[in-house]
Amino acid sequence: MRMVDLIEKKRDGQLLSKEEIDFIITEYTKGTIPDYQMSALLMAIYFTDMTDEEITNLTLAMAHSGEVIDLSSIDGIKVDKHSTGGVGDTTTLVLAPLVASVGVPVAKMSGRGLGFTGGTLDKLEAIPGFKIELTDEEFIRVVNESKVAVIGQSGDLAPADKKLYALRDVTATVSSIPLIASSIMSKKIAAGADAIVLDVTTGDGAFMKDIKDARRLAHTMVRIGKLANRQVMAVVSDMSQPLGEAIGNSLEVVEAIETLQGNGPEDLVEMCYALGSQMVVLAKQAQTLEEAREMLAEALSSGKALAKFKEMIKNQGGDETIVDAPQRLLTAQYEIALPAKKSGVVTQLVANEIGIAAMLLGAGRKTKEDEIDYAVGLKLHKKVGDKVAKGESLLTIYSNTEDVTNVKELLYNNITIGENGSEPPLIHDIITE
Ligand code: URA
Ligand code: CA
Repeated sequence: MRMVDLIEKKRDGQLLSKEEIDFIITEYTKGTIPDYQMSALLMAIYFTDMTDEEITNLTLAMAHSGEVIDLSSIDGIKVDKHSTGGVGDTTTLVLAPLVASVGVPVAKMSGRGLGFTGGTLDKLEAIPGFKIELTDEEFIRVVNESKVAVIGQSGDLAPADKKLYALRDVTATVSSIPLIASSIMSKKIAAGADAIVLDVTTGDGAFMKDIKDARRLAHTMVRIGKLANRQVMAVVSDMSQPLGEAIGNSLEVVEAIETLQGNGPEDLVEMCYALGSQMVVLAKQAQTLEEAREMLAEALSSGKALAKFKEMIKNQGGDETIVDAPQRLLTAQYEIALPAKKSGVVTQLVANEIGIAAMLLGAGRKTKEDEIDYAVGLKLHKKVGDKVAKGESLLTIYSNTEDVTNVKELLYNNITIGENGSEPPLIHDIITE
């Protein structure tokens, strides 16, 4: 087989066979296919698309390019959850202990944040002592004993994706649905779950700005998941404004604790119920979504979910006493209000720009090498659809530098106050096939 022939085939809109796709991924991972040929193939895929069968074969080849985690020694149906990224997206911190507390085993590998999006690992590391590295054996033992562990992705998980993603990044081939779908699903399949709940975000704070693209991506991932013998469903959710009220690592840990105490922001709570009830049903711990929702509500009101979070922190070496005194995590030197310049209704909170404001404070990374300041971030007091009076604080800036002029300016430019506006729908679609 020669790579040049396969590039030509794809360029001319023909289908690649499973053998051909396996050859490409195996040889590219080994380094025997050079980046320039792979770049040409990626661009051909970008323009000519792929069938579900091709995407499935690509996904499986990438999933098997490195370690495939075997979770079969964990009892029960293992359910993973994956979000395509957002701003202030605190759901995993809440969902992992919440669904574990009703008996669903959660063996989750999460990622770090980059640019305007935050990452669950960084948020967990805002908890003093919390370890995101466990050996495979420890990971499986903890999930068997306690139903939940959230750790970093092992180094050898889907190495083909790591290499391809870096190449796509510099060849303008990131925003291709077959390439995004195979990238995400290859990592989920290598991570070993039996069932996967996907949160495909859409809006300014998401990869897919356009809802039509988000729906297509969701349908594609659900179909290829099924072809790969996994149970998969997707929720298409709104990320035009940040989720919840807190954006920033310690602030989001506090928000997660408050949510697990039953005092969370409405949209975050609803998101956790929507995704959590799907996870509970996929894990066959409930027959219907309504029943699952009742179980989750009971776990919140009884304190069972909060106790599970405490247990999870303790199991992973963290200081679990912060659950009883979360304010201890809020150590930023300055808390600065952002007063509204006029009265009206908030009509827009541009999620990605607000994410950048939090990043500029130190809550996120501009480049992979940047250090994070866990204490800083933003706490929104108004969301889209809320009334505000002139002079009233729109949000609080938590900062370790006194001068936040540029952050304030960025925020003012991306918060619109108008005459009338309403809360956007949180969930646009639920996709099961
Ligand atoms: N997230 C991924 O993991 N891969 C993509 O291609 C896009 C988003
Ligand atoms: Ca949040």
